[in-house]
Amino acid sequence: MAAPSSGFRVFATCNIGDAAVQLLRDRGYEVEVYPQASAPAKSVIIEKVRSGIDGLITTLRDPIDAEVFEAGRGTLKVVAQDAVGFDNINREDANRARIPFTHTADVLTEATAEFAFFMLGCVARKLYPSERLVRENRWGAWHPFLPFLGDEVTGKTVGVVGLGRIGEAFAKKVVAMDVDLLCYDPLANAQPLILRLQQLTELRFRLGFSKKHHSATQVSFAELLERSDFVSLHVPLLRPGEADTPTFHLMNEQTLRQMRRGAYLINTSRGPVVDEAALAAAIKAGTIAGAALDVFEQEPLPSNSPLRDTAIEDRVRLFHHFASGGRQTRLSTDPNQGMAGRCAQALIDVLEGNYGGNPATMPYVVNKEAFR
Ligand code: GLV
Repeated sequence: MAAPSSGFRVFATCNIGDAAVQLLRDRGYEVEVYPQASAPAKSVIIEKVRSGIDGLITTLRDPIDAEVFEAGRGTLKVVAQDAVGFDNINREDANRARIPFTHTADVLTEATAEFAFFMLGCVARKLYPSERLVRENRWGAWHPFLPFLGDEVTGKTVGVVGLGRIGEAFAKKVVAMDVDLLCYDPLANAQPLILRLQQLTELRFRLGFSKKHHSATQVSFAELLERSDFVSLHVPLLRPGEADTPTFHLMNEQTLRQMRRGAYLINTSRGPVVDEAALAAAIKAGTIAGAALDVFEQEPLPSNSPLRDTAIEDRVRLFHHFASGGRQTRLSTDPNQGMAGRCAQALIDVLEGNYGGNPATMPYVVNKEAFR
């Protein structure tokens, strides 16, 4: 372990957790934490960077681009993001400035996947309308089908879009609901995962846990939309020009129309992957049955969002970008358990020159290509 000494100066745009901040201070770092819960203005970030800080801790709310890197020219050594997604950080600008940025992959995989799984159950089985009925004292009498029914998940077909870490963890969890899985990923080589999922469904059947031998199949996006009762999104946000297969508005008027009429959409990836106006319209028109969303085109969700339309309230579940919001996942200082710990360790790795001082070999650095 490196001796406390450094004198490194760090600005954090939010408190990633008192224990993690203390961990850095115990190593001799001078850490300033933006004191409010809301995000600092970009001008505040630029001013802090220009003051000569060595490290900048960010979250998914902070726009980090050429202006920020320029302000840190010659002084800023690392941007440590307290999130796995990093669409708020301009990778090309970081590479041009040759500043490594890091993220918190892996430690939030299971928390995010389980939240997506719970969201799916929540919207399908109408947990919110049911609880509201009880709370508002409108529960008249037990009745076979009044005032409403939900849709079972067991035995249905679930489409998983994006088979990275979180998509895989989601698939693994949802298999336990005896569903048929349809998987789509334009980039990842999904075949090894599909084979493992097939072995899992076969084992469940052979051991008598499933009455039916359920399938796990790799399909085209169109087939997934046409056949799935539930579609769960696990892709990064890639805007046009950022990739051959951009994911911006992947779910739009046309692709929503390709979904089954009684299907549900689940989104824990990034808000702009879904065209929200088109989604609200599709649910209102009965084109799909409903949606559960943890992420939005604009966060916090504006008060005039069409998703707030009371006509679709019972079919639309909305959450406050909360999927990774488990206590241990957010706050543990263990870099193998918590985002706070992983964020702090990533910062330490760069500033203290771990891994021979080469960002290309540091496990949590995203833009390794700039250092090869
Ligand atoms: C949450 O959305 C994250 O990217 O960590």
